[in-house]
Amino acid sequence: MDLLTPPPDLYGRPRQDRFLRRLTAIQDRYVQALGGPLLRRNPRRPLSRPLPPLQLVVTTRRQLAADVIELQLADPSGGPLPAWQPGAHLRLVLPSGRERHYSLSGDPADRAGYRIAVRRLPEGGGGSVEVHDTLHPGARLTARRPRNGFAFCAEPAVLLLAGGIGITPLLPMAREAQRHGLDWRLVHVGRSADTLPYADELRALDPHRVVLRTDDEHGGVPTGAELLAHAPRGAAVYCCGPAPMLTAVQRALDGGPVGAGGPGASLHFERFGAAPITDGEPFAVRLGADGPTLDVPADRSALDVLREARPDLPYSCHQGFCGTCEVRLLAGPPDHRDRRLTPEQRAAGSLLPCVSRAAEGETLVLDV
Ligand code: FES
Repeated sequence: MDLLTPPPDLYGRPRQDRFLRRLTAIQDRYVQALGGPLLRRNPRRPLSRPLPPLQLVVTTRRQLAADVIELQLADPSGGPLPAWQPGAHLRLVLPSGRERHYSLSGDPADRAGYRIAVRRLPEGGGGSVEVHDTLHPGARLTARRPRNGFAFCAEPAVLLLAGGIGITPLLPMAREAQRHGLDWRLVHVGRSADTLPYADELRALDPHRVVLRTDDEHGGVPTGAELLAHAPRGAAVYCCGPAPMLTAVQRALDGGPVGAGGPGASLHFERFGAAPITDGEPFAVRLGADGPTLDVPADRSALDVLREARPDLPYSCHQGFCGTCEVRLLAGPPDHRDRRLTPEQRAAGSLLPCVSRAAEGETLVLDV
C-alpha cells in the first residue's frame, strides 16, 4: 500500500473505492425505487428475534490510573453472563439514554462479571463524564450482548500495541496469548506512567514480554518503526489507540516486514473516535421538509453539522457500525457508507449520518 492510502475501516477491511461506492449508491436507489413489497422476507423463513438487553448492576468501582476508572458489572441475580472473546465490546445504555461502547478488559473465562475501564474525557461527547459521575456500586443499567469487531486470531507470533486506554481490548488478548504459549509482545504507550492502566496486571502475565513506554521518559511519542521494532519475527500486529498512532503503525508496516528479516504481517486494529472521511464532497442537509438547510463541507460528517443545530442527536461509534445516530431520510440521493443497514432498512429511509453522505451539490432532507 502507498503512504497516501487511508487506513481501512474499523474491521480492518480496505475502504471501498469511488467506483464501488457509486455502484452501491445506484443499487440503493434501485432498491428504493422497487419499494418494500418486493423486498419482503421469505415468509417461510422464521424471523430472528432480537435478544433482550442485559440487565446489569455495578458491583465494584476503582481508580485505575489518572482519570481512568474500572467498573465490574454483574447480573443482579448473580447468574452467569453471556460468553465473549478477546476484543469484544459491550454497548451500554447510560442513565441519560446515551449509548456507548466499551471494550471488555477482564477474563472471558470469568462468566460472573464483565469488566470495563473508562477514561474521563471532558471534551468528549459526555459519555465518559456520565460514567465517572453517575456509575457507582449499586447503579443499574442495560447493555447489548458483547459483540466483537476486533477478533483475536491467535497467530503463532503477535505484537499488541496499545495507546493509553486502548489497552482494554488488548489485555484479554495478551492473557489468551500467554495461555496458548504464543510468541507475543505487548507495548503500552502513554503520556506518563500514572496514565497507564493495568501496568501491574500486564507485568504479572510475563514481565519480559511487556514494554511500558511513556512520552515523558522518551521525549515524545514513538514512531511506528519504533513500535514495530518490538515485534517477534513475522508477527501479526493488533493495535488499539488514537488515530495518529494507527496511521504511524500502518505507514511503518507499509514500509517493510515486521521483525528482523521476517515475512510481512497482517494489521488488525480498533480506532478511537470518528472514521476518516475519504473522497468527501460538499453537500447539504435540510432539517425537515420546511427546516433550515445546512452545508456539510467535504471534510466534515453530516452528523457533526447536524449536532450543531440539534445537540441532543444521539451517537456513539461515529464509524457507521452501531446504528445509534440513525435518522430518517425524507428525500435526496444518499451515498450510504455504513456497515450496518440492510438494503431493506435503506429502502425504508434509514440513514447513518456519522459516515453517510451525498454527492456534490445534492441535498438530503432528514426527519430530525
Ligand atoms: S454513531 Fe454509530 S453508526 Fe453512527
